[in-house]
Amino acid sequence: MRRLVGETKLSVDDFIYPLFIEEGKDIETEISSMPGIKRFSLDKLSPELDEVTTLGIPAVLLFGIPRSKDNTGQETWDDEGIIQKVIRFIKKNYPNLMVISDVCFCEYTDHGHCGIIEGEDVDNDKTLNNICKQVLSHARAGVDMVAPSGMMDGTIASVRSALDGKRFYDLPIMAYSVKYASAFYGPFRDAAESKPSFGDRNTYQMDPGNRREGMRKAKFDSDEGADILMVKPALSYLDIISDLKEQFDQPIACYNVSGEYAMIKAAEKEGWIDGPGVMMESLLSMKRAGADIIITYFAKDAARFLQNKTSQ
Ligand code: PBG
Repeated sequence: MRRLVGETKLSVDDFIYPLFIEEGKDIETEISSMPGIKRFSLDKLSPELDEVTTLGIPAVLLFGIPRSKDNTGQETWDDEGIIQKVIRFIKKNYPNLMVISDVCFCEYTDHGHCGIIEGEDVDNDKTLNNICKQVLSHARAGVDMVAPSGMMDGTIASVRSALDGKRFYDLPIMAYSVKYASAFYGPFRDAAESKPSFGDRNTYQMDPGNRREGMRKAKFDSDEGADILMVKPALSYLDIISDLKEQFDQPIACYNVSGEYAMIKAAEKEGWIDGPGVMMESLLSMKRAGADIIITYFAKDAARFLQNKTSQ
């Protein structure tokens, strides 16, 4: 009876799994604040991809960690950069796995900000130019979808016209539309070495108190041609997910971020909570709020949980 009348169901089809890939060889490093999540070099990535595809997870979201950084993040648009190599590797060896690239600069800049610094702040419009160079390089490598995460105004319009200009008409864009300046990104910044060396991201990421502004941001991206609208983080922003679902007809994604993952893993390790139970309940709440797609470090754990449930 519960199965018949249940309103919200999670499925492995809902998940995108983030991957951290580091330039170099023989690297498989545990990220201490994100138990179970590792940084891999390309030569060590296959077992992880085998697991992801065997579990039936439809897509991965790529984050690169380059060997050297500079003040603009040049390696992001190098056709021989780490992300470009990973895209080609996955599309060759796992053609049915969807590959999404996170498009940003913070892992590649020596100052850790998401664009070009002018004075004390990121220069929005100069950064747009480099975003387009990065996107086109990912497109040439064969990526299936790009996801610009730097929160520069006008990103979606610029990326769409750059892609169309090079005849990548069919390449979709997932917009990090409503991304808050959040303390929940802490473990990710350790993992990706992307902590700003000065200041913070409050001039380009959103104020956590602002709900109506979230709608404005999503409207800009929708008008500019985004194919999927994302809310980030997820758990503290379920109201925003629900707003977007009501107002827009694009698929809505949410990003269940590193801090949300770390808290559950830490409390589980202490024996204070039922880890899998809390994991599934929080993922379910994101879906109930309106998310069609959940980007989550729990993707493998949750896929396994769902498999065991159906085989019972
Ligand atoms: C890069 C980016 C961040 C995350 C995804 N893309 C970090 C940030 O804005 O500092 C965070 C993901 C997470 O915490 O899991 N702009």
